[in-house]
Amino acid sequence: MGQEHAAHLPGSKGVLRGDRQRRPRPDRAAAGARERRRQRRGRRARADRARAARADGAAHESLNVPVVQVEGLARRYGEREALSDVSLRLQSGQTLVVFGPNGAGKTTLLRVLATLLRPHAGSVEVLGAPLPQQAWSVRGRIGLLGHEPLLYRELTARENLRFHARLHRVKLSRVDELLERLGLDGRADEPLRTLSRGMVQRAAVARAVLHEPELLLLDEPRANLDPAAIELVEPLIGPAPGRTRVICSHDPHGGISEADQVLGLRAGCVALLRERARVSVEEIAGLYR
Ligand SMILES: Nc1ncnc2c1ncn2[C@@H]1O[C@H](COP(=O)(O)OP(=O)(O)OP(=O)(O)O)[C@@H](O)[C@H]1O
Ligand SMILES: [Mg+2]
Repeated sequence: MGQEHAAHLPGSKGVLRGDRQRRPRPDRAAAGARERRRQRRGRRARADRARAARADGAAHESLNVPVVQVEGLARRYGEREALSDVSLRLQSGQTLVVFGPNGAGKTTLLRVLATLLRPHAGSVEVLGAPLPQQAWSVRGRIGLLGHEPLLYRELTARENLRFHARLHRVKLSRVDELLERLGLDGRADEPLRTLSRGMVQRAAVARAVLHEPELLLLDEPRANLDPAAIELVEPLIGPAPGRTRVICSHDPHGGISEADQVLGLRAGCVALLRERARVSVEEIAGLYR
């Protein structure tokens, strides 16, 4: 192909006469164009899915569909039944606090709601999406703060959060804002493995709320935090309009005070499910006897 033709190929603008090695080969140029078309299609499909998910979200709010609706949920690990016949509903803006002794199934419930574990029986809907079928459509609207920080130990807090910001298409300035609000900016550029447990927990809080999720799933969220840190995290994980929360707790007084509904689990079964006003601290204590 002569150079006058090469000048019309996509990407060939500015090819210099005699600069043979920099001239794109036609097969490469066509492959490049195909790849760009494929990427554009991928971006359009992702945008369509996100639009559909937002429309679903808006529909579920306007119809007053519960943010969490669970019916007859069961989940096993091998032979061990971790949850059996659990049913509950949670409306937008409400907080459900889950109590129960070690091994009662609290974390398992949170992981099912976070779309990380499939239900083995029963039905689970989160933000209007049935799980696991439509898990993809709601993952970006859920924030999970678990027992594990879900952060890379070799990366710094800032690098970890920037990684998650890119995944959620969140502005990188939000990372700096959160690091400052959580009092981590002085240590944000050291590997996570060199930070104290409380500092790592602060970084984990930042990760969970980075994308301002509508549903927050918090597993003992104040574990390892000092009183000053508890105050700092409060605006980020505390009650807020449009923020629905499920919190696992071992603190009857503190837990009841922030609950709209209280769930007590025992050996994977619902032992108690009631509005806060109708639950006493003694009843919660009774779950542990
Ligand atoms: N990955 C796993 N593999 C096998 N069994 C598991 C697994 N995770 C949890 N289990 C079991 O499932 C049951 C419920 O565990 P889960 O972690 O949900 O309890 P929990 O209420 O969160 O307890 P804790 O208060 O100690 O955090 C327990 O018997 C536990 O041993
Ligand atoms: Mg747990």
